[in-house]
Amino acid sequence: MYICVCNGVTEREIRSSIEAGARSLDDLQRELGVASGCGQCKQEAKCLLREVRRECLFASTLQAA
Ligand code: FES
Repeated sequence: MYICVCNGVTEREIRSSIEAGARSLDDLQRELGVASGCGQCKQEAKCLLREVRRECLFASTLQAA
């Protein structure tokens, strides 16, 4: 599913970028161009950042247990 229509960026690409180390909207803008056009995708990209980082934190907690 496209999150950023202006730049043709999909949810999968954003998730991959976050899993590879993107930590902020600025990182996603630099790497993928997200939110560098109309800005309609900004909130969704921020939600994905929070969601994926929470999943990663949870996964690392499980591995440590
Ligand atoms: S939809 Fe992402 S900048 Fe327009």
